Amino acid sequence: AIAQHQVLLQPAKATTTISRHIYGHFAEHLGRCIYDGIYVGDTNKVIPNTDGVRNDIIAALQQLKVPNLRWPGGCFADTYHWKDGVGPKANRPSIVNRWWGGVTEDNSFGTHDFLNLCERIGAEPYLAGNVGSGTVQELSDWVQYVSAPANASPMSKWRAQNGREKPWSVKYWGVGNEVWGCGGNMTPEYYANIYKQYATFMSSWNNDDKIFRVASGANGDNYHWTEVMMRDIPHHMLEGVGVHHYAVINWNKKGSATQFTEADYFNTMKSALYMEELVTKHAAVMDKYDPKKKVAMLVDEWGGWYDVEPGTNPGFLYQQNTMRDAMIAGATLNIFNNHADRVRMANLAQTVNVLQAVILTKGAKMILTPTYHVMQMYNVHQDATLIPVQAQTATNYTLGAAQLPAISISASKNKAGVTHISLVNIDATKSNTVKLNVDGATYKKVSGQILTAASLQTYNDFDAPNRIQPAAFNGARLNGNSLEVTMPPLSVVVLAVNE
Ligand code: AHR
Repeated sequence: AIAQHQVLLQPAKATTTISRHIYGHFAEHLGRCIYDGIYVGDTNKVIPNTDGVRNDIIAALQQLKVPNLRWPGGCFADTYHWKDGVGPKANRPSIVNRWWGGVTEDNSFGTHDFLNLCERIGAEPYLAGNVGSGTVQELSDWVQYVSAPANASPMSKWRAQNGREKPWSVKYWGVGNEVWGCGGNMTPEYYANIYKQYATFMSSWNNDDKIFRVASGANGDNYHWTEVMMRDIPHHMLEGVGVHHYAVINWNKKGSATQFTEADYFNTMKSALYMEELVTKHAAVMDKYDPKKKVAMLVDEWGGWYDVEPGTNPGFLYQQNTMRDAMIAGATLNIFNNHADRVRMANLAQTVNVLQAVILTKGAKMILTPTYHVMQMYNVHQDATLIPVQAQTATNYTLGAAQLPAISISASKNKAGVTHISLVNIDATKSNTVKLNVDGATYKKVSGQILTAASLQTYNDFDAPNRIQPAAFNGARLNGNSLEVTMPPLSVVVLAVNE
């Protein structure tokens, strides 16, 4: 028999907006994310590009509705000197990318390239400032360079000389990255002081783009870190606090991205679902100091992390992307949606050719990963109103004596009045039926999309790019105020329901 899972949707309690920024991405100068990924060089005549950025990637990111893109790191950010990456390309100095493979960084992709890309794909930029090896002056100059009105300052004059007269729209700024580790190995108390110093000199240059400064956040379950940020930094200079968490089986033995067992999958999902506890507990700490929830939580790095593909540079973090990754994405995004009162941005690591990428490239070829498809199916939740979901019964996915929740759900209603429900059947072997009862609304029509695969290990490859892609879903039946959804094992479903 197919297990039944009962839930109650409570549209009358829908008050919180799901920020579209929960669907954000992250592109670091790491391996083949920027160079030989997004950027192929503006003299490239083989791969169609606009100012060096691949046209097929621009189109794919536009379709995805990427709300924001974080750049240039990651650990790289605290080694990056932005002035090296503006002005004539022939004059730009090279540096060594010390965190990622020790390769030469020639600074050919810089601030103008990145911010123009954001404009083209309709994403808001989220710049990560260099605190670990930079200066207050350098970061304050960067803010001025990108945001000051034309001719208003020495930096905006320099920007115009470099080809851009009007400012870009840049609101989001990270004040360092992982400063407890690669960003400077600081204690939270020390960093809180440094943060205040930097934040003081990062000003808003216009009212539309009021500056949004993000304190480099905790590593996983370091709740003390969040406590110190919230306690020691005055909230008028703190718009957001970060948190990073990767779904990893074991940092010393991460395992292959494509050759893994069901037990490996189970443990990956356990680590992914741990996000629920992390977000809940960090939010509780924030509530203590900020009960009105003015300061946002940004999970500005998340995703699955495995061993690199055999034969590739270990410093490049290139991994394939299977149905397992689609399951991580579906379940994690549901967690963020359900915590939208505090989680107001998240950034999947990373956009192209690195970690849980949405796009992989090989020469002129480009493929969309299962994760891309989940992010696209879920983008209907962007800026919609969260509908609280109450689980009345829960079925579990069991493996031996271990258990995980089998079903993950979130729901929202958009401005046109359409309700979207995203469901994940995490169970690798069993179908599950979810019976959704709706409080105070009558549903008239349902349609949906499903992403599933014959096996956990299935992936899209350069010679088989469409093994996994969304298909029409007809496993949902309407019955008055209840909706019965039968999902095959390993599936992600997004329903659209009209009243
Ligand atoms: O995303 C890869 C790396 O993971 C980032 O550079 C760093 O911030 C994190 O440790």
